[in-house]
Amino acid sequence: MKSEILALLRESEDYVSGQELCGRFGVSRTAVWKAIGQLKKEGYQIEAVQNRGYRLASRQEIYGQHELESRMDTAWAGKTVCFYEELGSTNLQAKLDAENGAKEGTLIVADMQTAGRGRRGRGWSSPPGTNVYFTLILKPDFRVELASMVTLVTGLAVAEGIRSTCGLEARIKWPNDIVVNGKKVCGMLAEMSTEQDFIHYVVMGVGINVARQDFPPEIAQIAACLEQECGCTVSRAEIIVSVMKSFEKYYDIFRRDGNLTGLLERYNGMLAGKDGEVRVLDPKGEYTGISRGINSTGELLVERENGAVEAVYAGEVSVRGLYGYV
Ligand code: BTN
Repeated sequence: MKSEILALLRESEDYVSGQELCGRFGVSRTAVWKAIGQLKKEGYQIEAVQNRGYRLASRQEIYGQHELESRMDTAWAGKTVCFYEELGSTNLQAKLDAENGAKEGTLIVADMQTAGRGRRGRGWSSPPGTNVYFTLILKPDFRVELASMVTLVTGLAVAEGIRSTCGLEARIKWPNDIVVNGKKVCGMLAEMSTEQDFIHYVVMGVGINVARQDFPPEIAQIAACLEQECGCTVSRAEIIVSVMKSFEKYYDIFRRDGNLTGLLERYNGMLAGKDGEVRVLDPKGEYTGISRGINSTGELLVERENGAVEAVYAGEVSVRGLYGYV
């Protein structure tokens, strides 16, 4: 109810009466008063005036569960938010929650992570107060082979979310990263639990560099943050809400089609290095070619010098630009 009250107060220009809130949620005046008290405790400046009701006196953002839930404009993705000031890893927490019955669309968010996980067994440095770390719980009923495409759908959503909130030309570095001006601003890590051909759950972890500038030396050359790139202040809540909105839209299309056909044009339009030279780091032998975008199952099509087109599957190989990270 607190998130809904917050949403109502935010939307309303004028005072919202206690009576209206009671009616809307079917609760007593005391229950409303208590909820308002708790929101105030969290830091929201809510004015209470006799015979008029309640009003949000400041638009200040308090990064937390109620801020996120009250702004979330989706049917299911991110509708329930579990927010932590500190966690080991949102992916780990999401797996525990998924196993304990958390429903599809539950979003785990942390202000900081003490054991953030990156790909290939690496860590993901996750200081407090600066960046976005979240994991979305999915419980798909499709075949295991389709699971790797969830990362691509997420990439599309994150790139679009960054574009709409910051106005930056975010691009997808297939398959797991988002780049701005050639530098990595986001990494994604999907993990899943399966049994034969059945998916128990997929947890989709996303880390977005929003304000951090002091990157560890090993990534300083390739990493950037959104605020640095756009030269303005970026709201973490706004980014998450916007990514969830896009994710839900694209995931529903992907689920309906059972492949990426409906998203191909949009995805390839945001793909970094498309129609440029790439090096494919295939354990069976490296080669170079021209990136021609992904196909409907999410493989990257690379045209070799002899005209043959290879469909590169994400799990096996890495793809690099010829002259740098992208
Ligand atoms: C990468 O190596 O590029 C992937 C990084 C993924 C980091 C995110 S932050 C939120 C979620 N929780 C984790 O522990 N990892 C992912």
